[in-house]
Amino acid sequence: MSGRMLVKNIGMLQTATGSSKRGGSAQGENLKLRNAAVLIEDGLIEEITDGGELPKHAGEAGLVLDAEGSFVTPGLVDAHTHLVFGGYRQNEIPLKLKGASYVEILKAGGGILDTVKKTREAGFDELYEKSTAFLDEMLALGVTACEAKSGYGLDFDSEVKQLKVLGKLAAEHPVDIIPTYMGAHAVPWEYKGRPDEYIGMVCEKVLPYVAENRLAEYCDVFCEDSAFNVEQSRRYLACGKSHGLGLKIHADEIEAIGGTKLAGELEAASAEHLIATDEGGMGALAASGTVAVLLPGTSFYLGKQYAPARRMIELGVPVALATDFNPGSCPSLNLQLIINMGYLKYGMTPEEILTAVTINAACAVGRGESIGTLEKGKQGDLVIWDSKDMETLCYRFGSNLALQVIKKGELV
Ligand code: NIG
Ligand code: FE
Repeated sequence: MSGRMLVKNIGMLQTATGSSKRGGSAQGENLKLRNAAVLIEDGLIEEITDGGELPKHAGEAGLVLDAEGSFVTPGLVDAHTHLVFGGYRQNEIPLKLKGASYVEILKAGGGILDTVKKTREAGFDELYEKSTAFLDEMLALGVTACEAKSGYGLDFDSEVKQLKVLGKLAAEHPVDIIPTYMGAHAVPWEYKGRPDEYIGMVCEKVLPYVAENRLAEYCDVFCEDSAFNVEQSRRYLACGKSHGLGLKIHADEIEAIGGTKLAGELEAASAEHLIATDEGGMGALAASGTVAVLLPGTSFYLGKQYAPARRMIELGVPVALATDFNPGSCPSLNLQLIINMGYLKYGMTPEEILTAVTINAACAVGRGESIGTLEKGKQGDLVIWDSKDMETLCYRFGSNLALQVIKKGELV
């Protein structure tokens, strides 16, 4: 991280600008620089030039990378993952193909609860190593920061174990990690039929400990008929807020029971999924400036409709795109694939998509000041792509188009 790195000969550099989330027409505004160069000093961007000019201190760079005319963007930010989990759930697919729904599998003790069992059984080191391999893969795909939720422990010790794995990853892995405590992911079997008591326990015991020990920056709840209703979600989020945590909510993934309106009411940082969101819900998000974190990989994997992204943009809601990487509803961590889906399934423009996987995603995780755009003073996180432009990145799918990934001025 120390010293200077120069990336020269960039055919086109494309980036959103500023440190704030961008909604409406601003979502589609990107800066495009031709024949550009970026100089990074001690991990931060010192100067960006275009038109074939080189930065003032280019000659002092200890490392020079020639992009050979390729396309460069900021490092991608994945604003919604469930990174740390035990086992997999490949056994659910035959059930799904026979017609069992996500909620039916969950109610029969499978789904999230099956992963809870496997995560409780897994040791710290096993979870740490498995998540490290996931992060390595994400980084190779161009993701330089990611949010990661707990929520597969659902008791004090196992939630803390997941969050401590995230803490160790944050200290040791190049990818920036933003940890979220998702204690309200499902009602564990010890509290079957007693969700209010479970929320009570979480609010009394786990949330205060998590906040005091800085194990998470956000809290998140699965607000859905099969998980927590609006009242329970409000209680959990209000408690998180009182302990200084930022608010996130899994809303309207399966049915619109009011989670989106709750996000608006509580001015949550983000509302996520939003597959079934109605006009009222979108209006609430627009009014509160909450980032809509859309997860098209989950629509694909659950065989559901796609969130009304265009309508959200029309209403001025800042839209981010993320993977939702988890062992049930989206076992893929490939944010490039999500870019393809944003283009083809949501009908977003390449510029809107770049904003969605960089600055809007960064703002959804409270990092708008330091990452998400390529500008002087921000972290030197960037990707050199096997492409000439964003349109080609949106169009080609199934290959890893990241040629080189630079994290805080180092080639990773
Ligand atoms: O975002 N919906 C809740 N949580 C995850 C799925 C978790 C799982 O199925 O293991 C989601 O889709
Ligand atoms: Fe999720």
